[in-house]
Parts: sequence; structure tokens; C-alpha cells
Amino acid sequence: MAHLFNRNVLVGVSGGIAAYKSAELVRQLQEIGASVRVIMTRGAREFITPLTLQALSGNPVHTELLDTEAELGMSHIELARWADLLLIAPATADLLARLAAGRADDLLATVALATAAPVLLAPAMNQQMWRDKATTANITTLTARGYSMVGPASGEQACGDVGPGRMAQPEVIAAAAAALFETGLLAGKRVVITAGPTVEALDPVRYISNRSSGKMGYALAQAAVDAGARTTLVSGPVNLPVPDHARLVKVVSANDMLEECLALLPECDIFIACAAVADYRPAAIEQQKIKKGPEQITLQLVRNPDIVATVAASEYRPFTVGFAAETNDLLAHARSKLSRKRLNMIVANDVSDNSIGFNSDNNEATVLWPDGEQAIALTGKGSMARQIIQLIAREHGAGDTGQSN
Ligand code: C5P
Repeated sequence: MAHLFNRNVLVGVSGGIAAYKSAELVRQLQEIGASVRVIMTRGAREFITPLTLQALSGNPVHTELLDTEAELGMSHIELARWADLLLIAPATADLLARLAAGRADDLLATVALATAAPVLLAPAMNQQMWRDKATTANITTLTARGYSMVGPASGEQACGDVGPGRMAQPEVIAAAAAALFETGLLAGKRVVITAGPTVEALDPVRYISNRSSGKMGYALAQAAVDAGARTTLVSGPVNLPVPDHARLVKVVSANDMLEECLALLPECDIFIACAAVADYRPAAIEQQKIKKGPEQITLQLVRNPDIVATVAASEYRPFTVGFAAETNDLLAHARSKLSRKRLNMIVANDVSDNSIGFNSDNNEATVLWPDGEQAIALTGKGSMARQIIQLIAREHGAGDTGQSN
């Protein structure tokens, strides 16, 4: 079933009579799981009030590019990064022309330029305007640039004309939006992803852990599901919804995580280690709560097993991907980890920068494999996850070919 779980859909509404259908579209997108924010052009606000779309989306509607207050809330760049998809419905002839020309003369056109997310257009206009050569040329330009289209449908128009130019029905647009994320790149593959922190008990009430939110691992699970993989998340305690169609195996400590991962290995083609595994655990778990006493006490810690290295060294040896969070000499450290842990790929993050990584919604990384690397520019974790999955699919596919030759 088509779904948009965990997807941020930025709906752009431009000024046509079909704008009234955008209200229903926002509702349908939410019904299939999307988080929705709305941008309205000046023209759109002549047809439908921002209040309607604000009430339906549950978020303030964005209208102005040059408004200090609005920019303080969520700037056009933040909106562009937030979006996993920019869906413009209705897209009027004027909006198509402005997009084709690469203009940045209002908030919607600017965000379209500033986003790395895919853009889906639902054109709506009078049939003669749709048939006009200028519109045809604009559509050709935008399609060549990678924009996707849904509709327009044919039929009777608000102006009384009959022909192509009616905006596609909201359910058709919502299904087209969901279909954009179903890439099929990993169809039939079995993917295991570790995510979140591990929690190492000291006594019945205390533990050692870390601040990993699990967002990156969960985003990878979503991208893997969308790519058609049978996906299992082996996750430490986090507060995130499990992507639809992914299987969740809950764990607490590094030892639990290792045990569950090893059990899954006979049925695993691709293993992605995204968890922030505690390097050490208390040497013993006290049976009773440790009592307050001396001014100083010493905790004895012992090394935890390295899960990803154990998986890479196992007889099953799936295509194994690790993460390297570093504060200095990022690429050199990542490359040495790639070979030391015998990984097929590693995603290197600079964690000296607070705005990315760990608890942030955005991330920037370089993906390395034995004979190549690719940088992924600052973007939302959803988009980052999709780009990582694409690279994994490509390199894993390259390995498959190599083996059969
Ligand atoms: O050695 P370091 O902790 O920097 O390596 C990070 C990578 O190794 C991540 O992919 C992490 O999930 C994985 N890892 C692991 N088990 C550990 C420590 C790290 O799987 N005990």
C-alpha cells in the first residue's frame, strides 16, 4: 500500500482555482503518514485562506520570503532542507514559467531552487494555456531537470472549457508522491540495520549510555523499505516510530545487540551498523543499587564486542557498512576503520560540528569504499539515508557482478 510514513512533504500551493483541492490533498498526505508543511503564493491566498491549510496541516503556513519574523521561525533554507519532497499542487502556468526560468522571486520558487529534495508538480490551468507552446517548453525544461509530473487530467474546466488542464485528483497526487519513494533498488534484498544507543547497566537503576537519537538508523530503515528490501532494525532504546513494513528487534546492551545480529546473519545480504554502541560496559552489574558512601569510587569497565567487525569477519559476511563519527582527520580515520574492520563501505561524519550528526535532523557525510568515495552535502536525514542506500545498492550490485564473473 502506498505510504509516506516518516516523510516530510512540503506542499506548495500556487494561485489557481484548483487551490481549493489542496486542502483535501493535505489531508490525504497526512492520512498516508506524511508530515506536511505548506507554502502559499500570493495568488493562492486569493483562492483559499492560509488558516484552512494551517488547521489541516497542523503547522503555520509559510507565505513570505522577505519577512524577518517568518524567517526566524523556519527560514527558506530550513524549509528546503526539511522537505523530503516538494509537491506543488496546483502548479499554475505562471509558476511553471518561473520555475523553468530558475527565478527566486517568492518563497515557493526560492525553496524549489534551494531544496535537494525531489519535486513533484501537479499542473492546473485552462486547456489552451496548457497547450500553449510556452507551457510545453517549460514542462520539457522542468522534466529534463528531473522534476516529476502528475496530471493534468482532462475534462470540463472551471472556466467552462473542456480539455486537458484540470489538476489531478488529490488521491492520485498523493499516490504519485508515495510512488516516488519506492525505488525498488534493493528489491528482494535482506537488510539488517543497527540503530540508537546501547545501554549498559551498572546496577538495577543506573546505566551508562550515550545521546544517540537513532534518527539516522531509522531513516535508513525507511529508505531500505522504500527500496524494496526486507528490513530489520536492531535498535537500542529510542523514542521513534518504527517505519511501516520494517521489523523491529529491541535490544538494550551491546551484548544483546551482538547476539540478535548474529542470529539474523544467515538471512542477511546487507548489514548496516548505525548504532552508537558503547565501547565499554561495567565489568559487573551490581545486583543491588550501589549505595552512596566514600568520596570517590572507581568503576571498572571492560571492552564491549565490536559488532560490525564481528559481522564482517563472520562466515556469512554480508555486504557490511559502518559509520565513523570523528572530530579530526575525518577521511583518514574513516579509511583506516574501513580496512581495519574489513567493511565494504563506511559513512564518515564530522561530529566536531554541532549542527550535524547525533541528535540533529540534518547530516553531512562522505561515503567511502575501498576504491572510491562520494561526498553527500548537508541535507535532512531522510534524504541522506536515500543517498546512502543508493550507493549501497550500486556498490553491492557491483560486487554481485564481480562474483558471478
Ligand atoms: O570504532 P568505532 O566505534 O568508531 O566504529 C563505529 C562503527 O562501528 C559504527 O558503524 C558502529 O555502529 C560500529 N560499532 C559496532 N560495535 C562496537 C562499536 C562500534 O558495531 N562495539
